[in-house]
Amino acid sequence: MKVLVVGSGGREHALVWKLARSPRVNRLYCAPGNAGTAGLAENVELKAGDVPGLVRFAKQEKIGLVVIGPEEPLCLGLTDELATAGIRAFGPSKAAARLEGDKAFAKHLMQQSSVPTADARIFDKFRDAKTYIASREAGVVVKAAGLAAGKGVIVCDDPADAIMALERIMVHREFGPAGDRVLVEEKLVGTEVSVLAFVDEHTIYLMENTQDHKAAGEGDTGPNTGGMGAYSPTPVPDERTIHQIESEILVPIIDALHTDGVSYCGILYAGLMLTAGGPKVLEFNCRFGDPETQPLLMRLRTDLLDVIEAVQANRLDQITLDWDPRPAMCVVMSSGGYPGPYEVGKEITGLESAATVEDTVVFHAGTRQAGQRILTAGGRVLGVTAMGDTLQAARDRCYQAVDRIQFDGAYCRRDIGAKALAPTR
Ligand code: AMP
Ligand code: GLY
Repeated sequence: MKVLVVGSGGREHALVWKLARSPRVNRLYCAPGNAGTAGLAENVELKAGDVPGLVRFAKQEKIGLVVIGPEEPLCLGLTDELATAGIRAFGPSKAAARLEGDKAFAKHLMQQSSVPTADARIFDKFRDAKTYIASREAGVVVKAAGLAAGKGVIVCDDPADAIMALERIMVHREFGPAGDRVLVEEKLVGTEVSVLAFVDEHTIYLMENTQDHKAAGEGDTGPNTGGMGAYSPTPVPDERTIHQIESEILVPIIDALHTDGVSYCGILYAGLMLTAGGPKVLEFNCRFGDPETQPLLMRLRTDLLDVIEAVQANRLDQITLDWDPRPAMCVVMSSGGYPGPYEVGKEITGLESAATVEDTVVFHAGTRQAGQRILTAGGRVLGVTAMGDTLQAARDRCYQAVDRIQFDGAYCRRDIGAKALAPTR
């Protein structure tokens, strides 16, 4: 089968890497891809948001399956357009992807279906939002309602900070039209986890637990990023909480969509805070997480194509996913300055040596090939991912590989997975 993966991040390199291992995939393409995907697939010069271009290419090349990595093409309706052209895609429809693309819609749906989430108010006018924030005493979280590459969420310790955040979003329009509408949320306290599930029309199949590290700085400080590292499995949540997440969060939200005539097929990703009052939703995503996918796919032994086909045939209840019990971890190396302004075009060295560390794969994100050289081309540059008999062993391998890689301004957090290794656990 010919398979096209859409996107260019670490997640997409991991998807390409995993699909390349399927005996039934005989031709792989990645649009637009990066220097890492180029080694396993044919990169196609089409942007992930170029829906007509991607549909044309898929028709022309008689692609059997399109696997859509990022949220942008899903929210633009790539799945729907491909279906109209008779091409199978993996990823929810435009109507279902609103769960991620429109945080106000998602919040309403959660409120309607009693899914536990942070209390929030939604505002279209700067003045109204400002008055509301000024009336609050505790910290709040200000969120642009639209898509902002994981960066349109500003966690604030006090109302004065929150008003500055609101100005950034609604007045300076740092995230463009994504900030036409904002959510002002109560700030939740607890442990954050990502729960990802495969979903077909009848079944929700939870994957192994993962934890992301969203903040740029060590000890979870500094601005939010797309994610600076992840590991799997995680010590929390426990079995009981997982059942609770499934029955009180995932099932009712999918049912609420069904009630509105929308069926959800693909990946559903719930970003959750495990609070003293139980798990609460921070956000829903309609796709694999980045960087959670890197450790998850390294641990998945089952052929990903089999799982995708089971989702498409509504046969998820008939398969069992086989996971490597060994922990895996991904450490993101980013350009200096990310998630703020950063420079690109820096030469990356040491990749070959890093790849020789046992059970390690260096997934590329923002990279590009320039002749024999590989250059940085984005904020998150590499996702160095390793497996080990213990989380500590996986972590040691990750940082051993990280230390062999150099580029000007390279930055990574040194505390990925540290919480899971703390002596209290
Ligand atoms: P989101 O994109 O909505 O998941 O937000 C990005 C990050 O901001 C999350 O991963 C959390 O770390 C943090 N965050 C979002 N909403 C809240 C909240 N209500 N309380 C505390 N932290 C939050
Ligand atoms: N790692 C967070 C996300 O993919 O949204």
